[in-house]
Amino acid sequence: MRIILIGPPGAGKGTQCQRLVELLDVPHLSTGEMLRAAIQQGTAEGQEAATYMNRGQLVPDQLVLSLVTRRLKGPDCRKGCLLDGFPRTLPQAEMLDDLLERQAMSVDGVIELTVPRDELVRRMLARQREDDNPEIFSRRIESFERQTAPLLEYYERRGKLISIDGLGTADDIFQRVHRAIRAFRRSRR
Ligand code: AP5
Ligand code: MG
Repeated sequence: MRIILIGPPGAGKGTQCQRLVELLDVPHLSTGEMLRAAIQQGTAEGQEAATYMNRGQLVPDQLVLSLVTRRLKGPDCRKGCLLDGFPRTLPQAEMLDDLLERQAMSVDGVIELTVPRDELVRRMLARQREDDNPEIFSRRIESFERQTAPLLEYYERRGKLISIDGLGTADDIFQRVHRAIRAFRRSRR
């Protein structure tokens, strides 16, 4: 199965993907993690990405697309994958559709995690990632609202979107996520 998780920063995309990996037995592709790894390794891509990430802005589409394209060609992705934080812009979504279509594949479903802003801020304050400070965090939320939220309509129109309440314990939310996966499986048949 190919599943996308969409949600604002701190919505719990990574947390739910860790659980989904076991359920679906497919690799977890987080573009945020890939970019942080590139920064750690000091690659040219990492250096370029850091200038955007440190400001809470989205990294340019071309940079993210080249990372993802390489990763999606890995043999472990043939049986499916969990896309966490990708796509995040309309051009990224269109490129993903093209890339999959060329391999006779498609996205099976998109899960949106909705969480009110005050809870996102609480979660961010409890964590200490480099881009988790109030000023950068507000910009990350703004980037989400301006550039990523329009994707919800893109997937809704294609009948692929299930929005779930991202408030509650991680286990509560996983039950909702699991229900969404069952619905995607039914619509595949
Ligand atoms: P990315 O790494 O994707 O960060 P993000 O979207 O801002 O989201 P987070 O990873 O902070 O949150 P999450 O939803 O994964 O939640 P988590 O499970 O960690 O991207 C970072 C940057 O990279 C972007 O700003 C951008 O610059 C760049 N980038 C990445 N992808 C890109 C793309 N495609 N295009 C362009 N640029 C891109 O949970 C958050 C916290 O809450 C954790 O501490 C967790 O333990 C806790 N938590 C989780 N669930 C719960 C719960 N139910 N109750 C209480 N606490 C919870
Ligand atoms: Mg994450």
